[in-house]
Amino acid sequence: MIREQFSTKLQSLISDDKWLIVQDNYDSKENLVYETNFALTNGYMCTRGSYEETTKTSLPSTYIAGIYDKSEAFMRELANTPDWLGIKLYVERNLLGVEDCELLEFKRVLDMKKSILFKRFKLRDGDGRETLIEGYRFISRENLHRAAIKLFVTPLNYSGIMEMENILDGTVLNFKDFPRFRVKHTNTLEVSNLNGKGCYIETETRDWNTHIGTGTIMRVYKDSERKNLIKSKRYSTFGEVALEFMDFDVKENETIVIDKFASIYTERDVKKEDIKINIEKELSDFILNGIEAEVKDHTEVYEKMWDIANVTINGDDLIDKALRFNLFHLMSTANPKDDTVSLGAKLLHGEEYGGHAYWDTEIFMLPFFIFTNPEAAKTLLKYRYNLIGAARENATFNGFKGAKYPWESADDGTEQCPDWTIEPDGSCYRCMVATYEHHVTADIAFGIYNYFRLTKDLDFMLKYGAEIIIETAKFWVSRCKYNSEFDRYEILDVTGPDEWHEPVNNNCYTNYLAKWNIEKGFEMLELLKNSSASIYDDVTSRICLIENELEAWKEVHDKIYIPFNKEDKLMEQFEDYFKLKDVVITEYDKNDMPVIPAEAREYGIKNTCINKQADVVMLMFLLGDEFDKDIQKVNYDYYEKRTSHRSSLSPSIFSIMGLRVGDNSMAYKYLRRSALVDLHNNQNNTREGIHAASCGGTWQSVIMGFGGMEVDKHNVLTFNPWLPEHWTDIHFKIYFRGLLLEITLSNTSIDAKILEGDSDNLTIKFKNKELVITK
Ligand code: BGC
Repeated sequence: MIREQFSTKLQSLISDDKWLIVQDNYDSKENLVYETNFALTNGYMCTRGSYEETTKTSLPSTYIAGIYDKSEAFMRELANTPDWLGIKLYVERNLLGVEDCELLEFKRVLDMKKSILFKRFKLRDGDGRETLIEGYRFISRENLHRAAIKLFVTPLNYSGIMEMENILDGTVLNFKDFPRFRVKHTNTLEVSNLNGKGCYIETETRDWNTHIGTGTIMRVYKDSERKNLIKSKRYSTFGEVALEFMDFDVKENETIVIDKFASIYTERDVKKEDIKINIEKELSDFILNGIEAEVKDHTEVYEKMWDIANVTINGDDLIDKALRFNLFHLMSTANPKDDTVSLGAKLLHGEEYGGHAYWDTEIFMLPFFIFTNPEAAKTLLKYRYNLIGAARENATFNGFKGAKYPWESADDGTEQCPDWTIEPDGSCYRCMVATYEHHVTADIAFGIYNYFRLTKDLDFMLKYGAEIIIETAKFWVSRCKYNSEFDRYEILDVTGPDEWHEPVNNNCYTNYLAKWNIEKGFEMLELLKNSSASIYDDVTSRICLIENELEAWKEVHDKIYIPFNKEDKLMEQFEDYFKLKDVVITEYDKNDMPVIPAEAREYGIKNTCINKQADVVMLMFLLGDEFDKDIQKVNYDYYEKRTSHRSSLSPSIFSIMGLRVGDNSMAYKYLRRSALVDLHNNQNNTREGIHAASCGGTWQSVIMGFGGMEVDKHNVLTFNPWLPEHWTDIHFKIYFRGLLLEITLSNTSIDAKILEGDSDNLTIKFKNKELVITK
């Protein structure tokens, strides 16, 4: 057990090995990857896993959900806020840090069960003094404005004076190690000693002047008795750094305890005049309560979260833990209490993609929440509802009707995908993604409908969901153009999920989902009508929907062009895709990544059939009911050989679809790729944040792919598992239409029961046979 390598006082806190991600040695080249993987978040704020004493290679960041700023950046992005982690310990001016001393022992451990980052370092300084530093940090899930660090420090072969700095650093930047893109998103308004109590910095974002306050207070005492040890203290302001110096006596082999309490409030939470006072109050309550009590409350919340979210894969320790790692970051970042924020493509863990929400949220992450935390799922969808006004304007601005959601969304719902970016060589790159990639609008409608179907949350639908589905249907009707030559409606100049072909005409995925969205628009109008005339009137007048407009809807719905080759049953990814140079993937690198054939590079990838990511296969995954199994198989086989999986969104979908069509040859490799994308840094960009869509995709791959879980068109929950030979079974819980179920699946059996809910039985299917499960 890993915990046995820590002192006894920490052992009782640390979970069993299956919950731990361990870093055994220090290599500064790995710092940025660990900063992402060891980032902690409670959904309100997120602090990357950098070292308290600082290291040369580091992007220390604390992002706060909903705090965005543009300034000189391309678009509004999550603004880095003051770094509250800083603790520097010195003995005779020698800094006790991982880069400043010889490392006799080194260990950092992310405890996913408790959301605590532990560490144990044994350091020898240049004068031969050895010090053991152990401890942990956490960001409270119980009180979202609290975070803390606790250290146990033991001088092993000396006694003397130890000096310490409590550092609160407001000099933080975004893209700090990228000179071309570096931005400072905040003005510093106050750097002070928090009325004599510690350190305080108040900043404001530069564009919207949103105030952010960060405060820290430190305590030092003997392990055996809670008496203050600090002999003297001096506060100094160093520009944008608040720094409190302290000193205390240490004795050989006597452990002292250092507590650092931190609190953050912003103008999004309280009036700006009240930020500082809230922080002072929060910190004094926190100190009175103590770190141990807070940890207890915090871990109790996690226990409840994991009770539902955890999945156990018996027989495969690697994927079992990797899946847990994905779920840990995903579920930690969602905040069911805040419907003004969504989940960014890199969560709150890094600066790539600016903290923007993409289709990744509704298509890849949402299913996990619908099945394990419907409240969080609802909050994510309410975020879209809250921004429907901006989506309406976005449609108008682009010459359409209804609501068109932005490709990238931050806090105000305007398009946050830049029109241009600068390439590393300094050249300007005209970025057309937002101009052409429109499917996100249908994906959001899909997410909402899926939520409704799987939760039966009629109240949400009547108040919020239906309006979005109808308004987005209206958008698609206006987006389609009539082609009189073929008597059909078309979507021209569009980009599908595969961004390597941009733009195209009649992308199959987009056209099909547009048709689906319009159909659901009709269904929602019926739903509203049947529920109450006043709700129907209310929503339709908000949307400005006139009954006779619906004829046009029907016409577009019936005649929208879906590129499909009847003879060989192939869906054509877009019009004339089959005329491109056909190149197939035949080789894989050592990480099982497809090697893009040289021929494709010679031709220019966009002139060939090679894809970035799942596109037609994505469609078949989402709307499986609408395609016969043999069509699914033909298309899987065809596109599998032509997809490069250069987006981390792709492998999970191919693993599921391979299993659905009975080709399990690649499924496990795809799952591994998806599950380990950050733990093994297999895309080489984990430093920039967690691949959140892949986290959700990994859950879907295990449950919906290997577990074969589907909800059929009659809303019956069905299971058709195919588990790799070395998996004994998988065990998980899900919410399904108001019931909480517990399920254990093997290749030949299912053990399922109802744990909660207002029904005593439920008919499900296992391997196509009906089965009634009970409480
Ligand atoms: C993918 C998109 C995805 C985005 C954010 C891109 O590389 O092609 O499908 O939405 O990354 O994850």
